Amino acid sequence: DQHRARQKTLEPLMLSREQLLEVKRRMKVEMEQGLRKETHANAPVKMLPTYVCATPDGTEKGDFLALDLGGTNFRVLLVRVRNGKRRGVEMHNKIYPIPQDVMHGTGDELFDHIVQCIADFLEYMGMKGVSLPLGFTFSFPCHQNRLDESILLQWTKGFKVSGCEGEDVVTLLKEAIHRREEFDLDVVAVVNDTVGTMMTCGYEDPHCEVGLIVGTGSNACYMEEMRNVELVEGEEGRMCVNMEWGAFGDNGCLDDFCTEFDVAVDELSLNPGKQRFEKMISGMYLGEIVRNILIDFTKRGLLFRGRISERLKTRGIFETKFLSQIESDCLALLQVRAILQHLGLESTCDDSIIVKEVCAVVARRAAQLCGAGMAAVVDKIRENRGLDTLKVTVGVDGTLYKLHPHFAKIMHETVKDLAPRCDVSFLESEDGSGKGAALITAVACRIREAGQ
Ligand code: BG6
Ligand code: GLC
Repeated sequence: DQHRARQKTLEPLMLSREQLLEVKRRMKVEMEQGLRKETHANAPVKMLPTYVCATPDGTEKGDFLALDLGGTNFRVLLVRVRNGKRRGVEMHNKIYPIPQDVMHGTGDELFDHIVQCIADFLEYMGMKGVSLPLGFTFSFPCHQNRLDESILLQWTKGFKVSGCEGEDVVTLLKEAIHRREEFDLDVVAVVNDTVGTMMTCGYEDPHCEVGLIVGTGSNACYMEEMRNVELVEGEEGRMCVNMEWGAFGDNGCLDDFCTEFDVAVDELSLNPGKQRFEKMISGMYLGEIVRNILIDFTKRGLLFRGRISERLKTRGIFETKFLSQIESDCLALLQVRAILQHLGLESTCDDSIIVKEVCAVVARRAAQLCGAGMAAVVDKIRENRGLDTLKVTVGVDGTLYKLHPHFAKIMHETVKDLAPRCDVSFLESEDGSGKGAALITAVACRIREAGQ
């Protein structure tokens, strides 16, 4: 019957414990491939050195500007860091929209827009003409040889801006500043959002040695032993590695877990064949997986009385917040129907139950896959240090993690189950990654001054 037919379609999305352990195992293999010099070039999980070698220690201080580009919002921030008895961070920020045509335009347009926003912010703060050191959270895969140089490898998520891949984003930003001839900025550090988040949370919790983002995209970073970071000279100490785990599976190693719906989402995306793991986990894609399943059900007469609406055919109608709303426990079915109606989808009571079930299956798989990846990370840290048990904190940010009613819980349970020898706490970042970017900038400025 119809129920059985739907269940059968959803089954491949329900992963067993054995399958999740296998995902963890493969992640570990891919991490090692990315770290090793001989295999790095062809490894999808890039394990990028960040030149961030310590978590915060409370001695950081100064006034900094920060930019935060690549999540839902673009922000410009002023961050005041105090040390000693008045230890703490004070922040002011303003959100600026990035229009869709700028996200798909040219590099000059994007960076001119960013500089325009900085100029507006300085004016708004009454700081026109002041030149402060700047920390740039740039949430895309970048190759770094230094903290203040960051070569974009490729765009991910919703960005597709021409003329930037292979270029140093610091240079692109500086050129745009010079084009405007209004102010100068000292770009001290470029950091990934995972790294900024780890540092933000590390300011409160010294055990925080991992950063995780589950938002528009998904990615993680952690403190790796220098001896394992083969791309960088030196054996002593640790360096934070930006995993770029979103690209896990880009060599086909997850194909046996991918469903026809994952394939469809990938093919219709801005970057087919890329970021396969991210496309099974993060906010930008989960709604699309759901939509593809609903289309399939409807075509087979198992939903919406078999009638495909124009709305259902529209890419991107199910935003991240939709999944979170629809699964909210206190939501009556009538409200689920209201949400669907709002999306232009006429549903019966049965339809709304089915839609809610599909959302639950897709979100659960995402949380479990994310947990399996995280289990690989924390176990690697534990093994690196030759410990029987490891106590570690993961700093987390991202709208899916923060807003979804079940994602966090399922992910935590999965990590606990798959990495039983690690005692993992999760700390939600309250202040975004701009604070962490400023802390990194503070340390870099101090070292620079000491060297002069
Ligand atoms: C923000 C961070 O809080 O979370 C950003 O400051 C990050 O740097 C973002 O990119 C991720 O979440 P989302 O859901 O906005 O992509
Ligand atoms: C994408 C980006 C990565 C970022 C993540 C979360 O995966 O490639 O750099 O950390 O999204 O925003």
